Amino acid sequence: MVQGEPDPGRELDGRHRFDRPARGDGTLALMDFRFDSVEGVREGLAKVDYLADEGIAGVVYLADRLQKPVLVEGPAGTGKTQLAKSVAEMSGARLIRLQCYEGLDESKALYEWNYKKQLLRIQAERGEDQGWDEIEDNIFSDDFLLTRPLLEAIRAEDPVVLLVDEVDRVEVETEALLLEILSDYQVSIPEMGTIGAEQIPLVFLTSNNTRELSEALKRRCLYLHVDYPDLDREKAIVLAKVPDISDSLADQVARIVRSIRQLELKKSPSVSETLDWARTLVLLGVEKVDAEMAGQTVNILLKYQSDIAKAVKEFSSEGQAFKRGGPFSTDE
Ligand SMILES: Nc1ncnc2c1ncn2[C@@H]1O[C@H](COP(=O)(O)OP(=O)(O)OP(=O)(O)O)[C@@H](O)[C@H]1O
Ligand SMILES: [Mg+2]
Repeated sequence: MVQGEPDPGRELDGRHRFDRPARGDGTLALMDFRFDSVEGVREGLAKVDYLADEGIAGVVYLADRLQKPVLVEGPAGTGKTQLAKSVAEMSGARLIRLQCYEGLDESKALYEWNYKKQLLRIQAERGEDQGWDEIEDNIFSDDFLLTRPLLEAIRAEDPVVLLVDEVDRVEVETEALLLEILSDYQVSIPEMGTIGAEQIPLVFLTSNNTRELSEALKRRCLYLHVDYPDLDREKAIVLAKVPDISDSLADQVARIVRSIRQLELKKSPSVSETLDWARTLVLLGVEKVDAEMAGQTVNILLKYQSDIAKAVKEFSSEGQAFKRGGPFSTDE
């Protein structure tokens, strides 16, 4: 993992970025790539307790090499938001987050003029012998600009990771705001001109797929589908995130959750719910989860009464889904 300083004296060994003007002043940014290899990404993430599989680590690696944003899609609670946070943490970058919601507009996402301050300035200068052009130049300058997350990420001089969280919540028209940033890493402000990025930030967009995103947005991004982890990875996540849990309890938790996900449910348990359940069992001092204990605590994992009823029935009858993998037996 390299979070290297730009070193203009280095040879052109393919590890440098020359292909895109990336500085506000139009000169080329000369910068090391952040990551050495896919395995390096995976190890770095593991160090900050994010357990990635080959697919996730591979896309993060490529995003850095190709200087492309990553669109992360997948079911709720599978670690999409956490991925961006963890990449920032592992690379020592500042995380800038834009939380999307219906009605989000330019003034909250990009920038806004500080009208009050502008008015005060105009009033203060009344009576002085200034032409409108002069005043206009004055009030549409940096001093009067309120930067919002997208512009902040573009202007940052320190390394940043930009997280545009839950992008599917904004309207299609608002999505268009992102396009210039995602393809050219720049922002156009009519009164000031175009502001280019000081350095190319790593960008993550997350989506729960509540609606189709525009083709234009997708085209600019690498695509990463983050699904529920497999048994081993979920167990590893539990071991990493739940203090004082035994290997055998983590194993049972991962197995039972996997079995529950095989049922036809309204909403399958997410990784965050797995972690909540594991913490609950540790708090209760449970070492071996039997059908009764699972039934008593399943409301931590499932949030629909019909799902709970279905799971409890399966627990007690050790139904089809539970025979495979034998979640209540640790001796497998
Ligand atoms: N691979 C992983 N390694 C470590 N922790 C993980 C992993 N995947 C998920 N988690 C944990 O699961 C929890 C939920 O993750 P996160 O909030 O990122 O989910 P999400 O996909 O963004 O969910 P939502 O769609 O609801 O926003 C977090 O506490 C996170 O630490
Ligand atoms: Mg999220």
